[in-house]
Amino acid sequence: MKFHVLTLFPEIPRAFFESSIMAKAVEKEIIAYDLVNIRDFAFDKHKTCDDSPYGGGAGMLMLPEPLDRALESVKAYKKRVIYVTPSGKPFTQKLARELSKEEELVFICGRYEGIDQRIIDAWVDDEVSIGDYVLSSGEVAATVMIDAIYRLIEGVISSESLEEESFSTGLLEYPQYTRPEVYKGMKVPEVLLSGHHENIQKWRLERQLAKTLAYRPDLIDEARRTGELSLEAEKMIETITGQVSKVCPRKHPRYRGKEK
Ligand code: ADE
Repeated sequence: MKFHVLTLFPEIPRAFFESSIMAKAVEKEIIAYDLVNIRDFAFDKHKTCDDSPYGGGAGMLMLPEPLDRALESVKAYKKRVIYVTPSGKPFTQKLARELSKEEELVFICGRYEGIDQRIIDAWVDDEVSIGDYVLSSGEVAATVMIDAIYRLIEGVISSESLEEESFSTGLLEYPQYTRPEVYKGMKVPEVLLSGHHENIQKWRLERQLAKTLAYRPDLIDEARRTGELSLEAEKMIETITGQVSKVCPRKHPRYRGKEK
């Protein structure tokens, strides 16, 4: 898989591509990348890349021509082009999985108030947002997406780790513990020390359901809709409902102010 990142600040994604697991994936030639500085495609001597919007309004927009030329330079017409923007569709694990199957991806990182609509109309396949908040740079959002995508590519990390993590089953991940058995008076749940595989699996599913009900009930609805919730899980939900406070007792209204 090759990532082409079009940006005014290549040093932001570069740090990511040159570090840790990504650096190893690049070394192993599982991943390739190309950081394209949009400013190199500006035509005036000041290398201008922005201007004020027609119709007025605050801030500046990225000029279409340098972006257009940068897109041509990476032959973006043959590739899937993603514009990272807070006004895009939500980035999800499902979309990360879909994008991880592409051979090449082009990311356009916006700055200022965004980019000229004609670039979106002419080039962009997907406008994607990483969440309902506004960052000062598309580079950080693109890096988040690239991170979620590349780790799904075969050979980057073990498939076992991928299977067990949050969202792979449509639920949030269960809590994990390591040594010591007692830390500051807090004990590792007994069942995890029992060696009883079936009970451990049940406990983990129950904890996943309780946490998902507390933090992301929408994911439970979605799992039901797609038929991913087993009868066992449905029975556990019945038992858990009303006990959601176990997950985050200090935040639960029933406990608020009654702790002392
Ligand atoms: N650029 C600025 N904020 C963003 C967001 N939330 N998602 C994607 N790109 C962005």
